[in-house]
Order: sequence, then structure tokens, then C-alpha cells
Amino acid sequence: MNIAIDGPAGAGKSTVAGKVASRLEYVYIDTGSMYRALAWAVHNQGLPIADERTVSELLQHNQIRLVREGGQQHVYWNDTDVTAWIRTPEVSQYASIVASYGSVREQMLVLQRNLAKQGNVVMDGRDIGTHVLPDAEVKIFLTASIRERAERRWKELLAKGSQAQLADLEKEIAERDYRDMNREAAPLRQAEDAVLVDTTGMSIDEVVEKILQICERMG
Ligand code: C5P
Repeated sequence: MNIAIDGPAGAGKSTVAGKVASRLEYVYIDTGSMYRALAWAVHNQGLPIADERTVSELLQHNQIRLVREGGQQHVYWNDTDVTAWIRTPEVSQYASIVASYGSVREQMLVLQRNLAKQGNVVMDGRDIGTHVLPDAEVKIFLTASIRERAERRWKELLAKGSQAQLADLEKEIAERDYRDMNREAAPLRQAEDAVLVDTTGMSIDEVVEKILQICERMG
């Protein structure tokens, strides 16, 4: 069985998907981290983010790998572990720009389908139920109000010692949502056969239990 979890930025997809995967003993695949790794490389090398061809060729000539280390998923750009560097606001914005390029998405689709080939994966992203794994047995569309999503990110960042402002995060999330929903290539939308889970006011454990129940019902 494959499980696809899509939804807007900050809905808690990665935390929830990781926990669901470990409860089911499935492999967790965070597709956002792949777009983030590419975005990091563009940023790190000072390449023009607005140039689709440059960005697409960069992906073609380098390797993104997801590796499980100490119970956590790490993302590598060639031989460099970039996991710790891909969650900054700059890389987040860059990620949603590289993700708007059709030629980038085509390559990511191939990589992601390959990763899911052996089955029993929980994959999270924006287009998993609609494009990457349209035949997934379980599809979840996870969302929450913008305010709550921004607050969750804010608390995460504060805990890491960052001085982020809540209003800035709200704006950043709204911008990314807009870009993700309005791009031409595989825009963010709920698949027709996906179950909507609104996590506003729910704890992580409640969301995990709810998804496990849905899996039992549908799997
Ligand atoms: O999920 P996360 O916030 O880490 O994803 C970073 C960015 O990558 C998103 O804002 C989105 O633009 C893009 N993305 C995507 N398709 C996916 C996963 C992520 O377009 N399957």
C-alpha cells in the first residue's frame, strides 16, 4: 500500500507523515526536501533563480539522495548532507520557485516514482495524490488555517533560537501557498479521491491517529 499526503505549507505534513510511516513500518519520503535541496544549491552557488534552464540543468547534472540516518531522513546534494540548511526562509522561497518549473518537476517525478517503486511508502508533498502516485491506496489532504500554520512554524523556529516574527511567517506562508496553487505545472490541489483532514486545533498525535484510522478503512 502507498500513502500520499498533500497539503499547503506548514500543515504538519512531514511530522505527521514521519510518524504514520514509523507506526506502519513504511518508508517515509519527504518530497519537499528534494525541492529544498535543489533550491539550496541554486542559492549556495549564487545562480539566477529566475532562469528555469539553469536550474533544470543543475538538477540534471547533480544527484539528490534521501538517506535514513539515526531514525531521521537526511537529504544529500551529491555527497553533502544539506538537511540542516534547507529550512531557512530564503531556501523556502527559492524552493517554491524551483518547484514552479515544469522541467524541474518532470525530473523530480521520475526520481520520486523510483523511490516509491517498492511500495509501502508514505510520501508527502503537494502533487503526490494528483501526479506522482495517482494510484496510491490512501490519499490525505492535510490543511489548517494560515494563522495556525504560521504559529506552528514560529514556535518551531523560536525553539531553535530564531528571532522570526509571526507576521513575516504568515506572509511567507501565504506567498508560498499562492505560488503552489497557481502555478501551471502540477499545482497544489486536493485530489478528487483524497480525504480532507483539517488539523486546526488538533494535536499531532490526534492527527496521526486519524490518518491511521483512514488507512485501516481504505487500505
Ligand atoms: O513541503 P515543503 O514546505 O518542505 O516544500 C517546499 C516547497 O517545495 C513547497 O513550497 C512547494 O513549492 C514545493 N513542493 C512541490 N511539490 C512537492 C513538494 C514540495 O511543489 N511534491
